[in-house]
Parts: sequence; structure tokens; C-alpha cells
Amino acid sequence: MASKRIQRFDSAERMVHWMAAISFVYSALTGLSMWSHKLFWLSAVFGGGSTVRGMHPLGGTLFAFVLGVMFLRWAKLMKLDADDRTWLAQSHKYATHDTEGLPETGRFNGGQKMMFWMQSLFALLLFSSGVVLWFPEWMPRVLRLLAVLVHPLAAIGSIGGIIVHIYMGTAVVPGALRAMMRGWVTERWAASHHPKWFRDVRKG
Ligand code: HEM
Repeated sequence: MASKRIQRFDSAERMVHWMAAISFVYSALTGLSMWSHKLFWLSAVFGGGSTVRGMHPLGGTLFAFVLGVMFLRWAKLMKLDADDRTWLAQSHKYATHDTEGLPETGRFNGGQKMMFWMQSLFALLLFSSGVVLWFPEWMPRVLRLLAVLVHPLAAIGSIGGIIVHIYMGTAVVPGALRAMMRGWVTERWAASHHPKWFRDVRKG
């Protein structure tokens, strides 16, 4: 028998998420094209070197804004509770499909919550260091030196995190991408991946 559908993400959540994804990929690729001469060829895809130089900070500002909206919407939901901490301490079990003894997860598991906090922190670092690099003539020398260090480090952290995130959301957890594209999951999916959330949704 077909499993019934339940809503996982409403349309506002999906719109914010995909705006974050598009502005992130744009900012990451244009940023990489300016970072190393070996990646300069990438700038041709985005309109050439000077277009990229002008547009990268705008793409980054859009990304930071959208992430701010995501933060306001999800920060409360993403607070780690005692079960999440236990889950994180034993997350090697999740990776090896040995879920025996792992606490049941709510709407998001401990790994997803950590990803949210890490990306929020990286976005803050990227934006604040980005503003310094955008208007260097107005900034004190110490801030400029700090920004040159922080901006690429935060970019490496966030790009690495998003690669793992995309891998988890597409290859590792079938059904997750459809949830973010169309909004719904099956009851069977919810019960197996997020049982505590599933019970709460059923209770209404
Ligand atoms: C670029 C391609 C991306 C893909 C394919 C993707 C895919 C997904 C999927 C499938 C989910 C749903 C997971 C679930 O139902 O449990 C999700 C959730 C989420 N995404 Fe993305 N995402 C992308 C980019 C981003 C970016 C750039 C950010 C922010 C920096 C982001 C932040 C989140 C957050 C906070 C969640 C909820 C928690 C989680 O599931 O990790 N995503 N994403």
C-alpha cells in the first residue's frame, strides 16, 4: 500500500533554501575564479574578470541576507537538546547504519543542526570579512590583514560543508531532495528518518 504524504518544508522554507543554494554556488564559483589563477577560466562562465570582480560582493551580500532570513526562521528549531548531543557523540553509528541505541531524531538530526550553526557562522565571517575586502580604503590595516586570512578560510570551511551537505541530501538519504523540491515526504520516510518529528506531526 502506498505510504501517505506529509509536509516537510513549506513553500517559504523551500524558496529561502534554494535562494541560499543559488547565491552560494554563484558566490563560491566567482570567488574561486578570483582566488587562484588556475581557476581564472571560471570567470569566463560568469561574464569575464571585471564582471566577476563587481558581482561577487553583490552575490555574497544576497547570500548573507538570505542566510539571515533562514537563521531567523530556523534558529529556534535548531537548538541542540540532550538527545542531539548523545546522537552527535555516537554519530559514527549513523554513518555505519548501526542505529541501535541511537536516540530518535526530531525534525532535524544533530548533524543537520550542526551544519546549520556552522554555515550560519561561516556566512557571518564571510560577510564581515567580505565587506572589509570590498571597501579596503576605509578599513584599518589590522582589519584588512585579518580579512585576507578569514575570508578564504571561511570559504573553504563553508564549501567543504556544503559538499558534504549535497552528498547527504542527494546520494545518502533518498527522498530528502524531493522534500526540498516539492515539500513532502512519505509517512514511511518520516517514521524511519525522523521518528520523533513524525509522532509530533501525527499528534497535530
Ligand atoms: C547547493 C545545493 C544544495 C542542495 C542540493 C541541498 C539539498 C538539501 C536537502 C535535500 C535538504 C533536505 C534535508 C531533509 O529533508 O532532511 C536540505 C536542507 C537544508 N539545507 Fe540544503 N542544499 C543545498 C545548498 C544549501 C546551502 C548553500 C545552504 C546554506 C548555506 C543549505 C542549508 C540547508 C539547511 C540549513 C537545511 C536544513 C537542515 C539540513 O537538512 O541540513 N543548503 N538541503
